[in-house]
Formats: sequence, structure tokens, C-alpha cells
Amino acid sequence: MSETFGFIGLGNMGQEMALRLVEAGWPVRVWNRTKAKAEELVKRGAILVERPEDAADPGGIAISMLADDAALLELFAGNAPVVTRLGAGGLHISMSTIHPETSRRLATEHAEHGASYLCAPVFGRPNAARTGMLWIAVSGRPEDRRRARPIFEAMGQGTFEFGDDPGAANVAKLCGNFLIAAAVEAMAEAAALAEKSGVGAAGVLEMLGKTLFACPIYQGYGQLVVKREFQPPAFRMRLGLKDVELAISAARAVGVPMPLADLARNRALAGINKGRGDWDWSAVALGAGEDAGVG
Ligand SMILES: NC(=O)c1ccc[n+]([C@@H]2O[C@H](COP(=O)([O-])OP(=O)(O)OC[C@H]3O[C@@H](n4cnc5c(N)ncnc54)[C@H](OP(=O)(O)O)[C@@H]3O)[C@@H](O)[C@H]2O)c1
Repeated sequence: MSETFGFIGLGNMGQEMALRLVEAGWPVRVWNRTKAKAEELVKRGAILVERPEDAADPGGIAISMLADDAALLELFAGNAPVVTRLGAGGLHISMSTIHPETSRRLATEHAEHGASYLCAPVFGRPNAARTGMLWIAVSGRPEDRRRARPIFEAMGQGTFEFGDDPGAANVAKLCGNFLIAAAVEAMAEAAALAEKSGVGAAGVLEMLGKTLFACPIYQGYGQLVVKREFQPPAFRMRLGLKDVELAISAARAVGVPMPLADLARNRALAGINKGRGDWDWSAVALGAGEDAGVG
């Protein structure tokens, strides 16, 4: 690939995604607020830069994988140096899970500098990012979607396009994370029923994961619910709460009631209040067991 690009945000996901690009043999400039997180990438050939704007070239590509809307806006809103540096012909590929309106706002603001905004949130945890097995939802201008294709091929096993609206892929992502939250709650309640009835939850979830619910979420999260290995977190509960709140907010904007999302929000909020904000998101499953008195 002849493009130059930078990667901004080296958290649990960003480190693995940037590594895929380094391994593809491309020169990648990386920036992270906490520099130490770039160490492994630098050993593998990435170039660590001092400021976010140093990661971007005029007319080049900047990829962001930041925690939330606030962090993204802090670095990319309005006349942010990284955006003015990208300038005409520049492309920002935004891969965080954020509100659709944030994407629409950034697309408009970037355009004032001649730069494009492509929305590309991902499905898959850090281990999927490590092995290039992410699923990527994409929306934005068709020429930007085409331009980003080699990058998505390096990071993921497949891309789904949702048209020109820069917020559309965010809606798809929020739908997906809402479904995961609902599935984890459902499994946790079933596990509590099994445990309190003296039937091992592990056996019940294993059977269901191999039969009626033979799909990655029931299998992967089913294991997490049973094993209760919540640290270190692959996806922090605070970010899980953020996603459910984003889904509720996006639903409110179009007048859609989501009672199950309200329940998932309460579970995550309660988990954070119990000191589990930096545990893996799947620890929300503890709530149903605690309510049932099965620990
Ligand atoms: N983990 C998953 O399984 C998963 C899967 C799919 C999508 N996602 C989404 O991907 C995004 C990243 O998730 P993650 O798990 O990688 O999160 P993470 O490990 O918490 O990393 C967050 C990143 O954002 C940076 N950041 C936060 N606030 C900042 C600020 N104010 N200014 C500059 N940088 C800031 C952090 O910098 P520091 O290192 O300095 O803190 C770090 O690079 C989130 O939107 C998440 O919802 C996560």
C-alpha cells in the first residue's frame, strides 16, 4: 500500500489493530496518551510520535481507536491539529464505538478542512484483533470506503457496508453490543436458575452453546459467565456501560423504547458501583447470581 498512515489510541484494541498494520509491512506512525503502551509496537517496527498530529500526513490517513466520544472529540473536533494537518484529500478512519451523531458532526467538521471521515466500528475482542478476525461495519463516502479496503483486509475477516451516512455503521455497532449485553444477562439468569436448582450451570450452558445457541457470543461469553475470569479485562465494564448508554441515547433520538437496554444499563452501573468498572464487561453476569443468592 502506498498510503502513509498513523494510528491514534493504543488501548486493548488499538495495540492489536495497529500491530496488524505493522505486520502487513506498512510504515505506521503511532500515538498514545500513555506512551508506554507503544513499547511493543515500536519493537515490532512502528514509529512513536510525540503529538497526535505527527501521526498524520497531509492528504494521508489517520486511524483512531479511542475509548469514547469525549476522547475522540478532544483529539478530532473542529480545527484539531490532526484534522487540519490531514487537510485536502486526508482521511480519518474512526473505529471507536461512539454515538452516530458524533460521527455525523465530525464528518461535517472534517469536510471544512477538505478531509474525509469514515466510520468503521468493529466487532471482536482484542484476541480477534490480534489474529485479524474482526468484523468491521463501515459507512461514509464510497470512495473512502474503497480507499480503506486494504486496511480493513489486514485487520478483519469481513466488512459490512451501511451506506453513505457517517453515523450508520455506529447504529449497527450499537445494535450488536446491545444484543451481546442482552445475551449475557439472559445466560446469567439461566445460570443462576441452574445453580440454585443444583444443576451445574457449566453443563447447561455448554449444551445450549453446542445446540440451540451455537454461535460465537453464546459460546464465548458463556465460557466467561461460567469461568468467572474477569481480570485482566479485555473489554472494561465502564466501556460496556458506555455502549449501552449510547444505544439508549440513539434509541431515544428516534423514539424507540428499549426496556432490555435499560436493564443492561442498570446491571453495568451496579457492577461499577461494586468496584468492578475495570473488570471485564462480562462480570455484569455476577448480578443475576447475586440476586439469586448463589454468589
Ligand atoms: N475491548 C474490546 O473488546 C472492544 C471491542 C470492540 C470495540 N471496542 C471499542 O473500541 C474502543 C477502544 O476500546 P479499548 O478496549 O481498546 O479501550 P481501552 O483499552 O480503555 O483504550 C482506550 C484508549 O483511548 C485512549 N484515551 C482515553 N481517553 C483519552 C483522552 N482523553 N485523550 C487521549 N486518549 C484517550 C487511551 O489512552 P491511554 O492508554 O493513555 O489511557 C487508550 O489508548 C472503545 O470505543 C470500545 O468501546 C472495544
